[in-house]
Amino acid sequence: MKNIIVTGCRGQLGIAVNRLLGASEEYRLINTDVEELDITNVAEVLKLARDVKPYAIINCAAYTAVDAAESHLDLNYQINAIGPRNLAIAATDTGAKLVHISTDYVFPGNSEAPLTEFDPVGPQSVYGKTKLAGENFVKDFAKDYFIIRTAWLYGEGKNFVRTMLGLSEKFDEVSVVCDQFGSPTSTAELAKAIACLLPTDNYGLFHGTCEGSTSWDEFTREIFRLAGKTTKVNSVTTEEYTAAHPQSAKRPHYSILDNYMLRLTTDFRFKEWPEALDDYMQFMGFKA
Ligand SMILES: NC(=O)c1ccc[n+]([C@@H]2O[C@H](COP(=O)([O-])OP(=O)(O)OC[C@H]3O[C@@H](n4cnc5c(N)ncnc54)[C@H](OP(=O)(O)O)[C@@H]3O)[C@@H](O)[C@H]2O)c1
Repeated sequence: MKNIIVTGCRGQLGIAVNRLLGASEEYRLINTDVEELDITNVAEVLKLARDVKPYAIINCAAYTAVDAAESHLDLNYQINAIGPRNLAIAATDTGAKLVHISTDYVFPGNSEAPLTEFDPVGPQSVYGKTKLAGENFVKDFAKDYFIIRTAWLYGEGKNFVRTMLGLSEKFDEVSVVCDQFGSPTSTAELAKAIACLLPTDNYGLFHGTCEGSTSWDEFTREIFRLAGKTTKVNSVTTEEYTAAHPQSAKRPHYSILDNYMLRLTTDFRFKEWPEALDDYMQFMGFKA
């Protein structure tokens, strides 16, 4: 059996990785979250890696609260940049592969066409800056790495789908922004992409989001349709929304990622976002 250290195992992606690979006859998962392995501590990370001699490290740990990040700069750099740096150092030290997850927030958000791995970055928020620093550390310190940028992620845990379903229990109508575009992506699909890349030597930077794209208000309408909710979705602009609900972090207006490298180098294809959402709603028992 090949040992795999999973960090952030109690987060959304960590849970999905466990659902997919937990019963594998090939891999033994060594599950850790901050209580068992604080990725910001290089000595702890190196000790665990030297003890278990992993085949791979899958980094599902991150600081993901994008608004709170604006006022927690140091903690953000520690978790999203120093953390992956420490894992990269440990991966190189022990000959392990490193899977690291990044985000569409590394882009400025003002593109008019889907973004490939070859497009210039330019983060606009603390979260985006720290995630980009994490990518760069992985490139600097790891030898055999897969960096996968994803977006609009939902799974088992706190996420947009559950927030909207929660709001629909309390209100007859909700206001949702109509001028931000992206690709909702399920953790189940992202875990499959990780499992596809993992045994290969096809290293590098990848975009990994479900196919197709939408806006937050249309995404919400589809969630409510699948759940059989009659809650009305009022479409509002980002300007109107932030006037009523001030947010600290700037959201990307356009962050549709093109899975260009996956398409060029693998046969793996993400599902279309409505199909992946349907699967998720079914699995979670949210479907009408
Ligand atoms: N969520 C999205 O919409 C989204 C979009 C694009 C990219 N991503 C990226 O996708 C990846 C997975 O996101 P996710 O939504 O699964 O995140 P998540 O649910 O927030 O899970 C992250 C996990 O990491 C843990 N953690 C925090 N600090 C840690 C530390 N110092 N050491 C070890 N573990 C620590 C968290 O514990 P606590 O809960 O106790 O803090 C949590 O269990 C992340 O890299 C994220 O940046 C997410």
